[in-house]
Amino acid sequence: MSDSYRIIENTLKNGVKRIGIMTGGGDCPGLNAVIRAVVMMADKYGVEVIGIPYGYRGMLLGGDYFHKLTCEDVQGIIEKGGTILHSSNKDNLFKYPRRNKEGFEHDENGKLIYDNFSETAVQNLRDAGIDAMIIVGGDGTLTSGRDYSRMGVPVVGVPKTIDNDLRSTEITFGFDTAVSRCVQAVESVRTTGEAHSRVMFIEVMGRNAGHIALHTAISSGADVVLIPEIPYHFDKLVAELRRRLERNGTAIVIVSEGVTPPEKGAYSTKIVEGSPDAVRFGGVSGVIADYVERALNADRDENGYAISEVLMDVECRATNVGYAQRGGVPTANDRLLSTRFGAFAVKELLENLVPDEKGNFGRMVSVQENRLTSVSLEEVIASSTMIGNQRRVDPEGELVQLARNVQISFADE
Ligand code: F6P
Repeated sequence: MSDSYRIIENTLKNGVKRIGIMTGGGDCPGLNAVIRAVVMMADKYGVEVIGIPYGYRGMLLGGDYFHKLTCEDVQGIIEKGGTILHSSNKDNLFKYPRRNKEGFEHDENGKLIYDNFSETAVQNLRDAGIDAMIIVGGDGTLTSGRDYSRMGVPVVGVPKTIDNDLRSTEITFGFDTAVSRCVQAVESVRTTGEAHSRVMFIEVMGRNAGHIALHTAISSGADVVLIPEIPYHFDKLVAELRRRLERNGTAIVIVSEGVTPPEKGAYSTKIVEGSPDAVRFGGVSGVIADYVERALNADRDENGYAISEVLMDVECRATNVGYAQRGGVPTANDRLLSTRFGAFAVKELLENLVPDEKGNFGRMVSVQENRLTSVSLEEVIASSTMIGNQRRVDPEGELVQLARNVQISFADE
């Protein structure tokens, strides 16, 4: 039986006629390509798609906020960054911080007060005749997705994160674009670094995982890479940069945002109250650059030169690629992967919707051994903390070894 026949036959059996879709968490290049694929594939099988805007907040608002997505609506969005459905990374309706005029409400111990609005959200889906949901998001968003599936809403999750740090899939879309942006940034920064004989620090995202940094370092031929998984030694970092300056007159250091500064307390992260993963990074490269600059200039020769008669003083500068690595046009690889994910999510709902013994259905699209498949959301979100599903760089892995072989230093040995 052909793919199409099987899907049509099973769709009739499953009775899925209307699918809701929402995007949650931080945005990620490729989200629109997923939305487009969902709409196009569903349309092919006569199934309606309802767009739910503003992440889970839209599910709570319900009513007129839900709107039908047609093939015309998704025309020309495959190449657009962001998400036409908008996103939010703070709207966990199972644990929704209460607000008043001053902002969040706190109890007498200063703790946030939470409400649970999940029943209202599920009722809104029922009122709109939505039979099943496609939820595109990272760990936080998919944890709620699992919880809605436990409430009887059939859910297929589509994993997304530029950080590529989910254990339950070999790859997520957005990562390729993020790395490409970072590599472009290094190329721009390198020439100005060479012109001024400076050490250039380029900070990239990734939270507690160094995948973006490691891939960027290898692809751009950096001198040093600092990642959270391999703690660096400050003195070794300075010694390595001294060597590189003596040899090349300039150096490139890729810094993953989640690394620690040289001294405790020298840098503080930002806490976003009400967010499932409250810690925000950003800025550590500037602190490290200042420390390194002082250290390189502190150790001068008898003429007072830091490195040589040309490099009398060393200057370090830091650049944060920041949100430029998350926005803009997705790469062709990410568009392809997003389209595969979106279409597979629809197929999963139409072809394979078989509730478990508790009557629930919760799956997540995943790549395993380079093939598309689906895994149980219960298994993906096995731990109540998001760290449980995190895949970090393996310090003994092939890419770390490759980096070392091509003389990229981790400043650890
Ligand atoms: O998880 C994706 C990510 O872009 C991280 O790399 C980064 O630390 C974080 O999100 C930034 O979050 P926000 O958009 O809330 O500032």
